[in-house]
Amino acid sequence: MSKVKFTETVIRDANQSLIATRMPFSDFEDILEKFDEAGYYSLECWGGATFDSCLRYLDEDPWERLRKIKAKVKNTPLQMLLRGQNILGYKHYPDETVRMFVRKSAENGMDIFRIFDALNDFENIKVAVDETIKCGKHAQGCICYTTSPVHTLEKYAQMGKELEEMGCHSICIKDMAGICGPQEAYDLVKALKSSTKLPVFLHTHQTTGLGPLTYMKAVEAGVDGIDTAISSFAGGTAQPATETMKYALEQIGYETDLKDDVLKEIADHFAPVKAKFLENGTLNPSVMGVKADILKYQVPGGMLSNMIANLKDLGAMDKFDEACAAIPKVRKDMGYPPLVTPLSQMVGNQAVQNVLFGEYKSISKEIKAYLRGEYGTAPGEVNQELVDRCWKPEELVQGRYADGLEPIFEKTKAELGKKARSDEDVLSYIAFPQVAEKFFASREEKESNTVNYTIEKKED
Ligand code: CO
Repeated sequence: MSKVKFTETVIRDANQSLIATRMPFSDFEDILEKFDEAGYYSLECWGGATFDSCLRYLDEDPWERLRKIKAKVKNTPLQMLLRGQNILGYKHYPDETVRMFVRKSAENGMDIFRIFDALNDFENIKVAVDETIKCGKHAQGCICYTTSPVHTLEKYAQMGKELEEMGCHSICIKDMAGICGPQEAYDLVKALKSSTKLPVFLHTHQTTGLGPLTYMKAVEAGVDGIDTAISSFAGGTAQPATETMKYALEQIGYETDLKDDVLKEIADHFAPVKAKFLENGTLNPSVMGVKADILKYQVPGGMLSNMIANLKDLGAMDKFDEACAAIPKVRKDMGYPPLVTPLSQMVGNQAVQNVLFGEYKSISKEIKAYLRGEYGTAPGEVNQELVDRCWKPEELVQGRYADGLEPIFEKTKAELGKKARSDEDVLSYIAFPQVAEKFFASREEKESNTVNYTIEKKED
């Protein structure tokens, strides 16, 4: 039987899903070499929310983190999650910025670029894919998985073909909410395997408890690789456990490259890390359970914690179930977008507002922009009455939104002057201006403190 590839997610998606991406580099620095020995196909370690979190909460330079990971993980390809035209932020950037970001990521050590658009509007990933290919790196095109009347098997097979024609080296079925069931995965993998010649990877979460079952059927259908998290940091809103999937697949007769003794060392390393986050409250035990309700509401892990935080802020936690129940209607009105960042947060926030203030009595700035067409083309039909309420026909975006955006890189670089020490700094600033600015200031301050300290020492 064939071999199944494993992508380890502990320092990116599991970190993001379980502890809101609060894991500092120092928590995994000492185990990086072991990742390289374990037999993984790739190590997902960057992108997604890690970039923002490094700058915002951890006082770390995300680019430096990437270089430090690369220095210790020399053979296993590093993998990142890139939001296409959104890069890692939450709005669209001009093409030159997207290209620059991909180029700098490649230069700093990135190997596999997993690229997605929240709406599966491939116009929004083609530039990132093209630049990845130009850099000689692996471009993995994503299909965000969701269920809706417009998301048929034929439609998904067609998407796979489009990704292949675009030049992608592989396809990832990105099931960010953990809602893809075993039979759906089986049918989808079969469909993609027959509509394209590309390797197919499946990404899911253990949120609904379906994860391992879905992976088993996907492997049966011929999937090439799966995403898992080391057992001590797996399950719940993160991925199914690496060791468990290896054990089960090998029992049935599939091969893997994973080594049990190395996996054990990695698991032992992350056990106390998890305990620390449990103790300080960052890891809420509730995210570890099985949430079958999600099968109905289709709420990804990150969106769930975001909605809880929102409702807590508003002192309205008692409205949680109602807000969840309001999601499908908002989603239909938006033309059935898959619930993935930033759409998941936007739809979740609108559902909360609809429950608290009445349906669309208050429409968020982001939803208005979405209705204008700033995020791309919705999979299905958007509620026209809502569009008309927010915009005049001549105000709507025609074609690809990024085509209308002026280059910003050189201008931003000039404005930042000495504050930015590299092109990477400029990109950090473009992605998260206020946060990056604060990070630059704190970096300056730390360095001047170091200098003072050295001088004091000399005077002793
Ligand atoms: Co995920």
